[in-house]
Amino acid sequence: MSDPSRPRAPKIIAIANQKGGVGKTTTTINLGAALAEKGLRVLVVDLDPQGNSSTGLGIEPDDRQYTSYELLLDDVALEDAILATDQENLHLIPATVDLSSADIELVSNEKRSFLLHGALRQPEIEQFGFDYVLIDCPPSLNLLTVNAMVAAHSVLVPLQSEFFALEGLSQLMLTVREIRQSANPDLRIEGVLLTMYDARNNLSRQVEDDARDNLGDLVFSTVIPRNVRVSEAPSYAMSVLTYDSQSKGAAAYRELADELLRKDARLAA
Ligand SMILES: Nc1ncnc2c1ncn2[C@@H]1O[C@H](COP(=O)(O)OP(=O)(O)OP(=O)(O)O)[C@@H](O)[C@H]1O
Ligand SMILES: [Mg+2]
Repeated sequence: MSDPSRPRAPKIIAIANQKGGVGKTTTTINLGAALAEKGLRVLVVDLDPQGNSSTGLGIEPDDRQYTSYELLLDDVALEDAILATDQENLHLIPATVDLSSADIELVSNEKRSFLLHGALRQPEIEQFGFDYVLIDCPPSLNLLTVNAMVAAHSVLVPLQSEFFALEGLSQLMLTVREIRQSANPDLRIEGVLLTMYDARNNLSRQVEDDARDNLGDLVFSTVIPRNVRVSEAPSYAMSVLTYDSQSKGAAAYRELADELLRKDARLAA
């Protein structure tokens, strides 16, 4: 159990894949909920103009007074942007559609790639005692995703277990390499996570074999199964862990949290 009164810098993970609908938001919410359930303090940053992780965590558009957009523009203090959710230990900086203009509005800003870094990698964040910050990225390698990768310690890549899953991954890896060379030399790949996996489906198994052959240890041992409870949970503004604690989806996200914590404990040793 972590002690919220102890100041510390959180580990920041960008959850990214430029492909749409691969499970970025689902993973952000449910990995966040699984870590929070274990007593870790988690901040989710919704960096997608779709605002799906804000909605999924029960924060209605009317309650999104300050958003990640204001945070990027340095128009709001962290403390005013952070909202509590219904789950203990799980907090959110929400997003609205306003964020969709950021890409264009920020082009002329010479610090445009470092705006989120400026907001999250500062001593001020230590006072909140967060252990993890999870950034839900939009389905694009645009300026928002670049901001997430510049601010993050690592990138977690959800990969939908279906045909063409590995296509586009090389583009993503190239972006990570470029960001390492230019702005964030210590950026790591946290891991590639197979999502919506159907063990009865040959294609799922083939994607898994391909991913493990090509990427080896970069692929998480934990696999997230296709599970209807996972897809139902956001419409009740709950994580799957709260919505159906006994479901296979909830179990898988708890296992993912354990795997991540084991990895981090090894890295820290
Ligand atoms: N394990 C799962 N089992 C069943 N459905 C799932 C699972 N994971 C995700 N889904 C469903 O798949 C759809 C896409 O998931 P999600 O919104 O998390 O993807 P995304 O990568 O964030 O999408 P976008 O690129 O639009 O932001 C959603 O309807 C979600 O409920
Ligand atoms: Mg999403």
